Amino acid sequence: MARTSEIEKAAEVLRAGGLVALPTETVYGLGANAEDADAVARIFHVKGRPPSHPLIVHIGSAEQLDSWVEEVPETARLLADRFWPGPLTLVLRRGSRVPLEATGGLETVAVRVPDHPVALELLAAFGGGVTAPSANRFGSVSPTTADHVRAELGDGVDFVLDGGPCEVGLESTIVDVTAEVPSILRPGGVTREDLEAALGRPLAVPSASPVRVPGQHPSHYAPRARVVLVDPGEVVAQAESAQESGQRVGVFLPAAFADTSVKAHAVVIVPASLDAYARGLFGFLRELDERGCDLIVASLPVEQGLGLAIANRLRRAAGPRSTV
Ligand code: TXA
Ligand code: MG
Repeated sequence: MARTSEIEKAAEVLRAGGLVALPTETVYGLGANAEDADAVARIFHVKGRPPSHPLIVHIGSAEQLDSWVEEVPETARLLADRFWPGPLTLVLRRGSRVPLEATGGLETVAVRVPDHPVALELLAAFGGGVTAPSANRFGSVSPTTADHVRAELGDGVDFVLDGGPCEVGLESTIVDVTAEVPSILRPGGVTREDLEAALGRPLAVPSASPVRVPGQHPSHYAPRARVVLVDPGEVVAQAESAQESGQRVGVFLPAAFADTSVKAHAVVIVPASLDAYARGLFGFLRELDERGCDLIVASLPVEQGLGLAIANRLRRAAGPRSTV
């Protein structure tokens, strides 16, 4: 776990316009001073991310929200009070403090308070907002350990704060609160059920939304290996037939089949609990890449609770690859 001297050093790096990889409860972020347009531009360069794709501004407490946005609607206040610090990102109208570089030119801004002691200490020591996308190359799997960050970004990042493995393991839920009926733009660590219980009404969940931001892109969160999704009962048969045809197959074996032996190159037994599955998901994809798999055969969990976000990431991992 990062020590006070490291937090101070990281805050210094941010003040000087550098990039700091920071742990959050969801995934590691690649952070810069949100108000420094040049530092923000470096994030896009290091990630290889198109500049039109907006970033999330991380702040130290819900009380700071007002200074980053034009106005805070009642729903936003309610959700922030209930879920911050935590894996929830709110999209609001941009305040003048936020440079357009950070929002990809949008007049809205995404904001959250991360629930990780190291991130919160860094935000307190730095004093400002830290804009941070996930600390991976554009399109690839988000990092859930400091080692993943180093492997992925190397010298591109000036300082890496190690806060241990991420507790949640997949990104925050993004909720657009600019419209009358709030909608989920990206399912994540806070479940739709919990949000609806807090609001006392249903949320809009855009299904096949057009590609406008990276988290929405069909081939986001993709490992090197090709990913195919099949019914849970078909995983073993499909994996074995692909393996027999000469491919190196990695298998996400559903928990219900944990005792089944599979003739494949590598097998990951999917944890029975959704919490553990979410926590492990990106690490499993990385592991199967490292073990040289050409193909990953997996199935979708039931899309309730965290299962919605897990299924979203698996679909995108299996989505059509493109260079956009
Ligand atoms: O858990 C997380 O959210 C992690 C940690 C580091 O906080 N961050 C993260 O950032 O996942 P990133 O850049 O990989 O994804 C942020 C997503 C964008 O892909 C985009 O979909 C959405 O946030 N976003 C940001 N600003 C937006 C805006 N103004 N309107 C709509 N969506 C926005
Ligand atoms: Mg990302």
